[in-house]
Amino acid sequence: MAGEVVVAGAKNSALKLAAAALLAPGRSRITNVPDISDVATMADVVAGLGAVVEREDHALVIDATELTSYEAPYEVVSRMRASIAVLGPLVARLGRARVAMPGGCAIGSRKVDMHISGLQALGVRFAFEHGNIEATAPDGLHGATVTLEFPSVGATENLLMAAVLARGTTVIENAAREPEIADLAAFLGALGARIEGAGTPTITVTGVESLTPADHRVVGDRIEAGTFLVAGALTGGPVTVRGVDSAHMEMVLVKLEQAGCHIETEPEAITVLREGPILPADIQTLPYPGFPTDMQAQFMALMALAEGSCVITENVFENRFMFADEIVRMGADIRIEGHHALVKGVDSLSGAPVRCPDLRAGAALVLAGLAAEGETEVMETTHIERGYERFVDKLAALGADIETREE
Ligand code: EPZ
Repeated sequence: MAGEVVVAGAKNSALKLAAAALLAPGRSRITNVPDISDVATMADVVAGLGAVVEREDHALVIDATELTSYEAPYEVVSRMRASIAVLGPLVARLGRARVAMPGGCAIGSRKVDMHISGLQALGVRFAFEHGNIEATAPDGLHGATVTLEFPSVGATENLLMAAVLARGTTVIENAAREPEIADLAAFLGALGARIEGAGTPTITVTGVESLTPADHRVVGDRIEAGTFLVAGALTGGPVTVRGVDSAHMEMVLVKLEQAGCHIETEPEAITVLREGPILPADIQTLPYPGFPTDMQAQFMALMALAEGSCVITENVFENRFMFADEIVRMGADIRIEGHHALVKGVDSLSGAPVRCPDLRAGAALVLAGLAAEGETEVMETTHIERGYERFVDKLAALGADIETREE
């Protein structure tokens, strides 16, 4: 595989930006929006609240002049956990919200306790009834200092979106630092919010009376970019990804280099080339700027073919190794011990029918299939379509022998 691929806007930013648009009465326009099914679900969530949503080519126009509902029902939340991102904006704008309690998912139980306790500190009262989170703020929201137990991406985002309309100053300590947080803060800033420190562990928000709509371009998807870089690393490359800020990918690039790849970066492009063998590199997932959990499965596919052994440690989610059993069916030598995976590189993988357990693992199985001998049939690819736009077409354009078949 060789050539160039342009990545889409970041799924995990676009979804939150759509929720944030609810904060500002009027028409906000979000561009560089990926054409994926999770975005369609978020558009449904936002429309269900009464906002008028128009989908344009890679853009969402959200008119939040009037909100007619404060509820994100189970039907949508069970389809997509990220629907919980409307909790903060709804309670800030309307003083109440009802959001179905997200259940467990394929990668762990994924609690929302930090979202709840953080918002409680801002004056939100909670009740839990009939599987719903009932949030009310009868006296409005007020600023507070909230120290997160763990730098949760979703909790940081919900707090940020609530704090922008709270009275006084909110300080979020131990905040998540992901580039998608900085992107959300940039959009909120364009709406008129006063935020300092987004992208650092301490975010300070000075509440304002109201926000006004704005336009914003979604940051490039560092996980999509990383996935194509691993595809290049597995097959040799050179593969160049464009449309992503290479500064957002430092740890992934360090690990690709340790794995024997040559990396060249420009501000908005990264090229990977591998001429020698794949070398083993230990990996541990951590909140940003650590190695992203969303790249763990793709790296496991790479390490499965390394010349030697390594340990991959998953620190962010409790159950994100389900992928390993599938790639073992392709001939990989992987042993799971709690949250460590011991990966002994093998000389080759052999194509097999496999099932996608979740989005990133699904992408990783496709990559493993590209490197394997013979045909690999990857089933349940709707998981992949949640987060990757035209994944098969983009891989085929790089020279991969891949096609979609109806299941
Ligand atoms: C976001 O999930 C992403 N999803 C995930 O992307 C990503 O893996 C994750 O951040 C970490 O980077 C979206 O942005 C839509 P967290 P989020 O809150 O916000 C625990 C993908 O493939 N936790 O940082 O849910 C939680 O259980 C995905 O695109 C609590 O215990 O992640 C987990 O173990 C999947 N209590 C850890 O923290 C809470 O209140 C990190 O979760 C909140 C989280």
